[in-house]
Amino acid sequence: MSPETNQPIPLSADTAEPKAGQVAVPVWLIVLLFLILYWGAIHFDREGGWFNEQVYAPYHSFQEVEAWQPVSGAPGLAQLGKLVYNKPTCVACHQADGKGTAGQFPSLIQSEWVQEPEPGRIIRAVLYGISGPFPFKGQNFNGSMVPWKDSLTDEEIAAVLTYVRQNAEWGNKAPEVKPDRVKAVREKTKGRNQPYSQEELLKVSPAD
Ligand code: HEC
Repeated sequence: MSPETNQPIPLSADTAEPKAGQVAVPVWLIVLLFLILYWGAIHFDREGGWFNEQVYAPYHSFQEVEAWQPVSGAPGLAQLGKLVYNKPTCVACHQADGKGTAGQFPSLIQSEWVQEPEPGRIIRAVLYGISGPFPFKGQNFNGSMVPWKDSLTDEEIAAVLTYVRQNAEWGNKAPEVKPDRVKAVREKTKGRNQPYSQEELLKVSPAD
């Protein structure tokens, strides 16, 4: 044995402890990340995000859709009317429970406006809207109700009015409104372009 073999083996570059260095992130990795993100966003969108693709507002789940019951005792028009009410049209202001908002939107519950046996006034109110002071049930409303003449058909207006007039849960009980009745009022008031005030509505004969 020569004396050299007892010497410690010198550390070469290859056997040295690994050291952390800095290497630039490869461009392809950045591009790949972007592609994955892009695909993810599109996928998320297509699948409806966290929402169920088959359940639309005003429903939030299948259970709710399944639990949907036609308005008791009022088939046909009132069923369609419930959909129109929640489209959202009236629900935006008068709320799903018909109670409205104190001081802002009047309640449709046991309302004499809603339940007039002849619907001439309420049809006009829905067609052209209402504005100005509206004293009702001890409160002074002074807002404005939007007109629906351009966005709802005669049948939809008849349906939504039948729904609110015959809504037993709200304690309302009045005869249905037929689409022909809405059509007749629409023709009679043709050319009108402004909302009714309460005063003006009161001058209309309900049977007209
Ligand atoms: C933008 C809010 C808004 C929407 C939407 C709306 N209303 Fe109204 N509604 C009002 C306001 C406000 C009044 C009171 C009028 C006023 O303050 O001048 C009113 C009054 C009424 C009244 C008379 C008072 C009462 O409570 O009985 C009826 C009936 C009525 N609305 C029915 C409807 C129906 C049916 C729809 C859907 C087709 C509807 N409204 C949509 C705001 C709204």
